[in-house]
Amino acid sequence: MYSDIRLAPLLQEMKTRAGKIPRLAVLINVDERTLRMWFSKSEDQLRRLHQDSVEQIVNGATSLGIRVELFSQGPPLWDGSKSYEENLQLDPGPPPDLSHPQRDHRISFLGRKIASPFGASASVLTSTSLRVRFLARTGADVIVYKTVRSSRMKPHPFPNLFDCSDITPELDPDQRRPPEIRVGEESDTFRPVYGKIDRYGMPCPAPEIWGPDFAASKRELGPNQLLILSIVGTAGKDASDDELIRDFVKVGEYAVGAGAEVLELNLSCPNRSGPESVLFRNPRLVVRICHELGKLRVKLLLKIGFLRGKELREFFLETASHVDGYSAINTVPVVALRDGQGAPVPAWGAPGLQAGLSGKPILRCGLRCVQELAKTREQERATKALIGVGGVTTPMDVKTYLDSGADVVQATTAFFIDPYFAMRVRNFLDARLSSSRLTAEEEADAARFSWSRACGDLEKELGGNPATLRAIRDAALQDFVEWEGRHNSAVGLGVRRPESTPSIDDFKNRIRAKLSKH
Ligand SMILES: Cc1cc2nc3c(=O)[nH]c(=O)nc-3n(C[C@H](O)[C@H](O)[C@H](O)COP(=O)(O)O)c2cc1C
Repeated sequence: MYSDIRLAPLLQEMKTRAGKIPRLAVLINVDERTLRMWFSKSEDQLRRLHQDSVEQIVNGATSLGIRVELFSQGPPLWDGSKSYEENLQLDPGPPPDLSHPQRDHRISFLGRKIASPFGASASVLTSTSLRVRFLARTGADVIVYKTVRSSRMKPHPFPNLFDCSDITPELDPDQRRPPEIRVGEESDTFRPVYGKIDRYGMPCPAPEIWGPDFAASKRELGPNQLLILSIVGTAGKDASDDELIRDFVKVGEYAVGAGAEVLELNLSCPNRSGPESVLFRNPRLVVRICHELGKLRVKLLLKIGFLRGKELREFFLETASHVDGYSAINTVPVVALRDGQGAPVPAWGAPGLQAGLSGKPILRCGLRCVQELAKTREQERATKALIGVGGVTTPMDVKTYLDSGADVVQATTAFFIDPYFAMRVRNFLDARLSSSRLTAEEEADAARFSWSRACGDLEKELGGNPATLRAIRDAALQDFVEWEGRHNSAVGLGVRRPESTPSIDDFKNRIRAKLSKH
């Protein structure tokens, strides 16, 4: 009966409304322990609750004035089983009436006031005004309209989009070659929560279509929302730099004519082979492009693919004085395989063709890139805007990006999983605005996040043989259980938690200390 209700975000919203877990427990007539246990379960685990428990939750939500239908799967914003052209005609329907008004966080971004530091990055989901309307009304306050060109470009042949399976690893930012990724269509095994892989090739309608549609999208914005326009130059494989620059200027002029005030230059597209696809590795050419586009008197952002270390720092140093900010990261290039007869076969026919990996598996890469950009920005005292993108699938991920130095955080894949994702992020951010103190559950979530990162880092630093790995895991587990025990008893006593939530480094130091005693 309630099979498409998303229980995890519904419970979070109920907690926000009820204020405290004990109050919520009374309201929905369950004991406090059971309720706390529900909060620690994943969506998949919650789905296995008894029907009467689900009914209790739904009734409690209704009595709190929550519109339970906003916690259903929601209307798909894009249907990967249909072609790009068919999808462009698809209308996600009117945006929902929110059950309560969202707060204004009064963020200052690129010299404007913005309602919140959250939004949607450029993708097929931001390619039409109806989709922009849906995202803006649900609380995405900084939206990037999908990358446009100076002339029409068809997509790569269908299919263009796959989901990943639950064995997809979170990519390690230090790994040189990303692994091959398994994709498929059966919805039991392959789901967008595990990641998505796309190979559209930056298609685009003619400027006579996207220009008016961008203007219409701008009219759909509410107060303190911003629509950025993503652009890319088009030039043949053997075109000269000058030809590419000329085309960037041409699309930039169209963009300004359509009403764009901020342009995001898409410098990375893993699934095209033209010179525009890896511009983020060519800062000198980027500077020349920015120099010409600067004459249009618009703000300029650079959207880059995953870079780190010296290459990222040099990219920043070379380009910073020509732009207003950066957006990182785009999808990560990988090779995708699907089941064939007997052995896996390339998902896109030809071996070695690259496609863009997005969603949860790229979170660590996105965070690393943003942390390094933020560090360089601070060292250089450069007041550049920073948009963090890549792997955000929970409201907590948004917070992690903000804590890592991003001014604004955006997502794409999360909206494939949950079209109402912006609403949930806004509820989370709004609740934090009301009380800057973390709730006990948020502290536990943050600690779990830092702990698992600490384990991963230590395994990489010290691991090597199975015995060491086992020792690290035992010490780590013991440390977390101890922390959780102290935390729970402080929460149970109702006192303010004496120690702040441990950071990744805190956990690493404590696990190391435990290891050295053995
Ligand atoms: C289907 C699809 C289409 C995309 N199209 C664009 C695009 O046109 N321009 C762009 O800059 N990024 C594009 N992106 C990249 C996203 O903006 C984002 O950088 C990337 O998906 C990582 O964020 P995520 O993990 O939240 O999805 C696209 C991503 C997907 C999945």
